[in-house]
Amino acid sequence: MGWSAQAATATSVGNERGRGGSVVRVYIRSKRLRFIMSGAAGFIGSHLCDRLIAEGHQVVGVDNFITGDARNIDHLRGNRLFQFREWDVCRPFDVDGPLDGVLHLASLASPVDYLENPLETLDVGSAGTRNLLEIALQHQTRFMLTSTSECYGDPLVHPQVETYWGNVNPVGLRSCYDESKRYAEALTMAYHRVHRLRTNIARIFNTYGPRMQLDDGRVVPAFIDQALRGEPLTVFGDGSQTRSFCYVADMVEGLYRLTLSDERFPVNLGNPQELTILEFAERIRRLTGTSAALEFKPLPQDDPKRRQPDISKAKQVLGWEPQVSLEEGLRDTIEYFQTLGSPALARR
Ligand SMILES: NC(=O)c1ccc[n+]([C@@H]2O[C@H](COP(=O)([O-])OP(=O)(O)OC[C@H]3O[C@@H](n4cnc5c(N)ncnc54)[C@H](O)[C@@H]3O)[C@@H](O)[C@H]2O)c1
Repeated sequence: MGWSAQAATATSVGNERGRGGSVVRVYIRSKRLRFIMSGAAGFIGSHLCDRLIAEGHQVVGVDNFITGDARNIDHLRGNRLFQFREWDVCRPFDVDGPLDGVLHLASLASPVDYLENPLETLDVGSAGTRNLLEIALQHQTRFMLTSTSECYGDPLVHPQVETYWGNVNPVGLRSCYDESKRYAEALTMAYHRVHRLRTNIARIFNTYGPRMQLDDGRVVPAFIDQALRGEPLTVFGDGSQTRSFCYVADMVEGLYRLTLSDERFPVNLGNPQELTILEFAERIRRLTGTSAALEFKPLPQDDPKRRQPDISKAKQVLGWEPQVSLEEGLRDTIEYFQTLGSPALARR
């Protein structure tokens, strides 16, 4: 059965409550597939592994743990549907046996990590992407790139739609991440055009949930970490810049649908509910019950002022839109960090 036929026969038979109270859709599938996934020990990758395995598919996870955490996949070890290989995807490699898809999630994804490792960030977007595209080509199978809303840079168009080409500083501090992803998109489209490879590109907007790292510099874990320790919440600039936050179960659903789709051009995946950072800090204070103050610091270089996905295309081609409210997702995430015990325990 071909991919599009499988997608067409994927039948939603209801919802069930997943780990942390999130909504997980259940599908009946007629064929079990085998994927290779880079970045499997990361935040989104480990949730996507769980989802694929829950559907009965096999996953060969690859990760070099530069930012990932073995604890994210510990529960999968010994599962007959899961194999793991510790490897830097910037070095060429292959995988034995048949493959039905290559999912490329490996990247230095948080500002703290890519600012500390700009060369590794550029490498994984360039050499890493090329190696995974080559595997897809050798196995004559499809490829999915997880790209980013950072491709839009500090956007002049709002909300950001896929046809907008972006406003990126190519030599700024963040360019190692933004340009590595823009290059990875270009490479993916070139393989599609030259080799007729079946490719998908997900432009992921801010995603949060259990298994994020508390100390990776992203605003959700940073605020939660500070709130749980009763420390002031650090707001960059005056806090009027906006963000929109997508719960990880919703993101995984979008990625899963995208891998089964025939869409070749980038698709935005994110939650269009837009908040200022000040409004977001207030939510965290209320949900954690902290009375901690706010501490204002200068805005980092090239920090986007507004961030909101236009998800019309995802609604149209994938029938997808987020289901989990910010309140519900944040409660799950806060509870997850609380169950880790002392916030210090959650650190790498
Ligand atoms: N989380 C978000 O809000 C967000 C937003 C936009 C885009 N994305 C993209 O989604 C993907 C997953 O992001 P995440 O939040 O789960 O990040 P993450 O840091 O938790 O996961 C990335 C994983 O890739 C691995 N990795 C990095 N370089 C590697 C290499 N050379 N070889 C093998 N493994 C390597 C890391 O060890 C890590 O486990 C990334 O491509 C990221 O750019 C995420």
